[in-house]
Amino acid sequence: MRRVGLGNYPLGVATVLSGIQPTAAPHLGNYLGALRWWVEFQDAHDAYYCVVDLHALTVAGDPAELTRATTTMATLLLAAGLDPGRCTLFVQSHVPEHAELAWLLECTASMGELARMTQFKDKAARGGEGSARVGLFAYPVLMAADILLYDANLVPVGDDQRQHLELTRVLAQRWNTRYGQTFTVPEAAIAPPGKGARIMDLQDPRRKMSKTAGSPAGTVFLLDDPKTVEHKLKRAVTDTDPPGPGAVRWDPEHKPGVSNLVELLAALTGRQPEEVASSYQSYGRLKSDTAQAVIATLEPVQKRYRELSEDPGVVRSVLATGAERAREVASRTLARARQAIGLLPRQG
Ligand code: TYM
Repeated sequence: MRRVGLGNYPLGVATVLSGIQPTAAPHLGNYLGALRWWVEFQDAHDAYYCVVDLHALTVAGDPAELTRATTTMATLLLAAGLDPGRCTLFVQSHVPEHAELAWLLECTASMGELARMTQFKDKAARGGEGSARVGLFAYPVLMAADILLYDANLVPVGDDQRQHLELTRVLAQRWNTRYGQTFTVPEAAIAPPGKGARIMDLQDPRRKMSKTAGSPAGTVFLLDDPKTVEHKLKRAVTDTDPPGPGAVRWDPEHKPGVSNLVELLAALTGRQPEEVASSYQSYGRLKSDTAQAVIATLEPVQKRYRELSEDPGVVRSVLATGAERAREVASRTLARARQAIGLLPRQG
């Protein structure tokens, strides 16, 4: 059986699900940590990918911008290589079963468990915990519902989602013990170290590259033009060691800026980070080669994005078919969960 590169999972037996928030344009971290693996995992038995618009409501945002960003994100996912003939692409809110299962799971999770989630603590700390939305607190449970509805056994995500995946596993196991076997317990599929699981901000390499919390100059967006990419990489923070033999190393702890560039180049070219590092002595050449590798990766994605944007009807129809296919599976799982927890079946 053919195997894929992330975790060596056998294709043909895996059901895959993953999601991305439509909060703003996706960046290189999203691409290297998740999206390129989504493309690779399309040949799994079943692959479901969703634009998680309900998750985006957990922080303040403009309604018109959410509508626009949802379409942009779906278009970009297709441009990056998702093929509706090989995967099911849909918008989370088009499948109402997500919100309903989230409620059933919320009645399985505890306040203490959710209060320990580091992403909640970080995001809530930024705006003040008292004013954080209830949805932000419950967010990981909705994420668990996204995954469990499809009996996914593999979830390709970046390293920052590790804790949420662990919670999903705990909730699924608790439910199965309490109410009888209902859900498949999923596994996270995270890229190995040095392969893009956590791309850092170019201006502040101790922080991850982020759509919402990163610095604009330190974040390379998938729709950035070549000049912008070159400029952002040229200005990337390295460190104070003078360049020369050994200055370019793969050492994320002591040289986070340089290591991030090395990781970018390694992930983009399919090489090992140590091997990439050993072929450079100057930060300048590392930066310019990394910029060229980024530009070469983004160019075909941007070209396809422009083509798809000319006919928004195509994307709308992919999403309509995707929601229909997703609902077929999701409604069966939800019916199983409703029965297991004792809700009186609807007649007719
Ligand atoms: P989101 O929208 O923040 O990010 C989408 C994916 O990109 C990964 N990622 C990164 N990978 C490497 N380096 C980075 N700097 C970086 N930043 C983000 C994320 O790990 C993610 O895989 N909660 C999720 C969305 C979600 C989901 C799901 C994911 C909702 N339901 C069900 C999987 C399954 C999130 O906010 O991702």
